[in-house]
Amino acid sequence: MSHNVADSSSNDLPPMPETLIDTSSAHFDDFIAAAVRLITNTTSLVDLQQQRVMLTGKKSTLTQWSKQLGGLDSEAKKTYGAKLHEVRSRLQQAFTDQQANLERLALDAKLDAERIDITLPARGNRKGRLHPITMTTQRMQQFFVQAGFNVATGPEVEHDYYNFEALNIPSHHPARAMHDTFYFDAHYLLRTHTSPVQIRTMKDSEPPIRIICPGRVYRCDSDQTHSPMFHQLEGLMVTKSSTFAELKGLISEFLEAFFAKSLTVRFRPSFFPFTEPSAEVDILADNGKWLEVMGCGMVHPQVLKNCGIDPNDYTGFAFGMGIERFAMLYYGIDDLRLFFQNDVRFLKQFS
Ligand code: FA5
Ligand code: MG
Repeated sequence: MSHNVADSSSNDLPPMPETLIDTSSAHFDDFIAAAVRLITNTTSLVDLQQQRVMLTGKKSTLTQWSKQLGGLDSEAKKTYGAKLHEVRSRLQQAFTDQQANLERLALDAKLDAERIDITLPARGNRKGRLHPITMTTQRMQQFFVQAGFNVATGPEVEHDYYNFEALNIPSHHPARAMHDTFYFDAHYLLRTHTSPVQIRTMKDSEPPIRIICPGRVYRCDSDQTHSPMFHQLEGLMVTKSSTFAELKGLISEFLEAFFAKSLTVRFRPSFFPFTEPSAEVDILADNGKWLEVMGCGMVHPQVLKNCGIDPNDYTGFAFGMGIERFAMLYYGIDDLRLFFQNDVRFLKQFS
């Protein structure tokens, strides 16, 4: 049966004589070894401080031994004094080393916890961009502004007087049925076209008038080429000498400038209660189908009168373009609803 050998990693001090002169050189060596082990095994600064008190404080064996030095003869005092000095400085060194160790470990842990992972790919600096309808509107607008037109605006919640009545569309007129109107009550509605801005402009200002009005309009209508909310760009010119030929020339020039390529265009006779004569303009799309892009015509004399302008002195022309239709043709999009689904994969293709 083997007998118990002291574990070299034990955290206990070996039994020590209380009296200094009973202490041998081996006792000192054992004490130093055990004390250094205790110090080196501490895992926190608090523990280290406790060991400092335990090993070198007032109640420690080391202090007891030191107090006994005074009672020794000078030879013994010298020997033991040197020994105790050695013990103290060995312990002091161990404390200093361990303190540095623990502080470094604490710093490492802190740095580890606060580590910034620079291997993570950066988010990048993606730029936003304008919606294709906004870009189309701006390009359309640019042409007319350069041609001397001012930009006007009007309310999207409109009174039926401006949206219909003053445009020669009395209630019960069959043309009202052509507009699938969203009504709020008997009189207020979401404007079905930008033409009410013609009325507001003619009532508010004197000819000559040259305005365009881009804006949102609403109709209860939805398919590949119709959306319940869409955009129109209205144009109105009233002078002493405006003619249909001038209207046709302006529109043709605009189409050429906007598309910057030759297109197959047709002016098709049509009807609007507020213009006479009236036409609609169709463009032959890539799919071989005609796409109606605008209505236009000479402002009806009754509409001029409704706005206090004498049709004997003035003539005018007007047009209302479907902005989405221009965007579809320009970008080659065959379903207008894509513009409003806000799918980033679709939207980010336009710059
Ligand atoms: C009008 O709205 C008239 N105010 C245009 C006008 C103005 C005529 C001035 C004469 C003088 P229309 O309903 O046809 O007309 O609409 C004009 C254009 O808007 C159409 O040619 C088409 O390009 C576009 N449009 C019409 N409905 C929709 C819709 N639901 N979605 C997308 N675009 C549409
Ligand atoms: Mg139409």
